[in-house]
Amino acid sequence: MSDTIDVGVARTLEAVERDIASFGPSFPDNATVDGKYLPRPSAYGMGPGGNYGWTTSFRTAERWMAWQLDGDDKFKEAALEDVGSFERRIFEGIDTDTHDLGFLYSLSSIPAWGMVGLDTARRAALAAADKLMTRFWEKAGIIQAWGSLDDPEQSCRTIIDSLMNTPLLYWATQETGDSRYAEAAHRHTAALRDNIVRPDDSTFHTFYWDAKTGEPLRGATHQGYSDSSCWARGQAWGIYGFSLGYRYTGDVTFLETAERCAKYFLAHLPADHVSYWDLVFTDGSGEPRDSSAAAIAACGLLEMAEMGECFSRTRVAGGSSATAEEIAATGELPMSLTCARDVSEEVEYYRGWARKIVDSLAENYTDLPADSTAMIAHGVYSKPGGAGVDEANLWGDYFYMEALMRLAKPEWRPYW
Ligand code: GLY
Repeated sequence: MSDTIDVGVARTLEAVERDIASFGPSFPDNATVDGKYLPRPSAYGMGPGGNYGWTTSFRTAERWMAWQLDGDDKFKEAALEDVGSFERRIFEGIDTDTHDLGFLYSLSSIPAWGMVGLDTARRAALAAADKLMTRFWEKAGIIQAWGSLDDPEQSCRTIIDSLMNTPLLYWATQETGDSRYAEAAHRHTAALRDNIVRPDDSTFHTFYWDAKTGEPLRGATHQGYSDSSCWARGQAWGIYGFSLGYRYTGDVTFLETAERCAKYFLAHLPADHVSYWDLVFTDGSGEPRDSSAAAIAACGLLEMAEMGECFSRTRVAGGSSATAEEIAATGELPMSLTCARDVSEEVEYYRGWARKIVDSLAENYTDLPADSTAMIAHGVYSKPGGAGVDEANLWGDYFYMEALMRLAKPEWRPYW
């Protein structure tokens, strides 16, 4: 391990310890205020710190990772306390009309089942998968992201972030033997591959289908700069989400789509490798960065690097369409899956980029108050919505810690 990774891991462990001391079982808000988390505001009949919204499991997963890194059972106990709250949440139906059930249960209950054998956690995660399936539109083949199914503004609309919710469904098929979950996840990912990724490899944040006919309608943004720009975090969700789709299905078109998303993302990074909140902006724009997009992209690139052996299998199956010299001559990024050459270049290429991004986050984006429970500063939740602008956020912290974990312990299996 290098110094940056060693120091990064040590600092994230300290932040998790501070979170347990300050918050215990109560959940911090999505983003910091002046670099420090406050408890989540009262909502859904719960006092401050209740378990609602899409981000609470990131804190739980940090506790799980801290346990795996350090071995101290105080981390496991704290994680398990959260897991109890996730059981209550799904069985009492607290803020569960959302596609974010994948984020929520992949990072909390599934590790509790996988690492501790907690059967109640398994049942909660399966209930979450069943609830997520109620949002699947059969004709369009997509999972609706937000709102109720008959809300005209949200009906048959999805968002690129949704790709991260599909591992819950693949897991449910693995656990139960019922293929419906994985089939829905596969169809959803294919629909996004065909519609949410634009011909120039950038992505829409959100996309609408016709609920009656299932026909694709149009892309639009919600948190990006404009309908035609490329929201940085959305592009990062694409890198990681399509890579995970490939891991679970072996569908090589998903890996190719992840590569297209990565190519566009990397080509639009500023000098310090940490993207602005929308990829339309670059150095000199005066706009804020989104460190969370950088952390998510780093994890996606590391996932792609791990798929190196699969690149090799694909290449054997796909035959040769270009030589290494031809690719070098075009100056293109090494993207072609059908060229016949040593695959170590792709693996090293993606790992190298992930490493540059993580190094920059560790060196330039950790300027937080000493007693903060956050890990990386300078994220953006929603610039158009004026939420969490130039602040730390729970998912940025989680993905930064996941990237460090992947680099520090290559044998570690992500919870997704
Ligand atoms: N998944 C919500 C967001 O990235 O803001």
